Amino acid sequence: MHYFIYHAGELYCEEVPVKKIVEKCGTPLYIYSGKTIRRHFKVFDSVFSEIEHLTCYSVKANSNIGVLALLAREGSGADIVSGGELYRALKAGIPPQKIVFSGVGKTPAEMEAALKAGILMFNVESLEELEVLGEVAKTLKIKAPFAIRANPNVDPKTHPYISTGLSKNKFGIPEEEVIPAYLKAKENPYLLPLGLDAHIGSQLTTISPFIDALRRLKALWEEISSFGFELKYFDIGGGLGIVYDQEEPPLPEEYSSAILKELKGLPITLLLEPGRLIVGNAGILVTKVLYTKANREKKFVIVDAAMNDLIRPALYQAYHKIVPVEEKEGEEVVVDIVGPICESGDFLAKERKIPQVKRGDLLAVMSAGAYGFVMSSNYNSRPRAAEVLVEGDQFFLVRQRETVEDLISLEAIPPLYL
Ligand code: LLP
Repeated sequence: MHYFIYHAGELYCEEVPVKKIVEKCGTPLYIYSGKTIRRHFKVFDSVFSEIEHLTCYSVKANSNIGVLALLAREGSGADIVSGGELYRALKAGIPPQKIVFSGVGKTPAEMEAALKAGILMFNVESLEELEVLGEVAKTLKIKAPFAIRANPNVDPKTHPYISTGLSKNKFGIPEEEVIPAYLKAKENPYLLPLGLDAHIGSQLTTISPFIDALRRLKALWEEISSFGFELKYFDIGGGLGIVYDQEEPPLPEEYSSAILKELKGLPITLLLEPGRLIVGNAGILVTKVLYTKANREKKFVIVDAAMNDLIRPALYQAYHKIVPVEEKEGEEVVVDIVGPICESGDFLAKERKIPQVKRGDLLAVMSAGAYGFVMSSNYNSRPRAAEVLVEGDQFFLVRQRETVEDLISLEAIPPLYL
């Protein structure tokens, strides 16, 4: 669900006409609905209310500090994967004791920043990483709370690029090495075993892979306990899918009840790392039609947003619904909706049936709140889009549109050439 709704033929975000925001902020433009984000967070968090838990929003899905600040006010924690995300989360007011740090390639400098900030725990993804974490902690004389991220070798049945819990994926530690890792950690008093973690993939639309992974994790947890470890935090990652098109992902209540059934009686605090579910359907990308053209085979609608703004269609053949900002009657046409970038892979939709559009019309690319702006780039020297957050009848520019000056602000011409 979301609060992007037509009133009298015009698309609104909550109580503001999208067109009005575009008049002020231009295109391409990301627009987020605060009310939708809040609702998603509340629903997700509340279905776990019967168990001690902490929802750590996965910052990578949408890391705008305006969005993070909204979630901080709702009581969300954060799942981060870099020093940059740590910086953002703290700036936005997420308490460090609600932050977990995942990722296969944490640098010693990132570990140091997180240790000094006092985060809840590190989700460690290799034995070498564990060793380095121990060294950094020892140097700083700060104990490093950690969980081992197990790789349960479960197929999440999603796009191969976003599957993370299979042995062929780079993530986590193989099950058979998990216990030896905790035992090894005993050698360094600066390593504090606090939890166990797994995350098997993203945009999952069935429950069974989650439960398979959970059962394997539970078995590991029990085995670890038999060695005398008391692991308080049981982190099951994120990954619950959303509706982009015809998918029928489990409802949050279905997801939680299946999980809670498995965890009954375990003396643990459950950690959850949802990303897409919280923000995916809470954002749109608004783009303007620049030109239309046709050749012998195809009709093209050329818009001012491109793969640098939203790479999901090009990278994962992802489907995003595209609708006109002003509703149109009349015949529909089948078109490719493409951007200005010089690559044939630069498309937002292929062979898509949409109402006839003309130069200057506005289109809304739906479900663009997760993995949208955060994956954008400056390819073709395109300044990145602006971002707006709507709250009721108000809207706020939460990221200015980049300028061409911004594009070269960190570059230099060698004095030799001047
Ligand atoms: N926790 C960890 C350790 C993760 O790696 C991820 C996502 C999440 C949580 C959040 O997963 P979510 O609830 O959002 O599914 N760019 C891709 C998605 C990459 C997901 C990476 N990891 C896309 O656009 O589909």
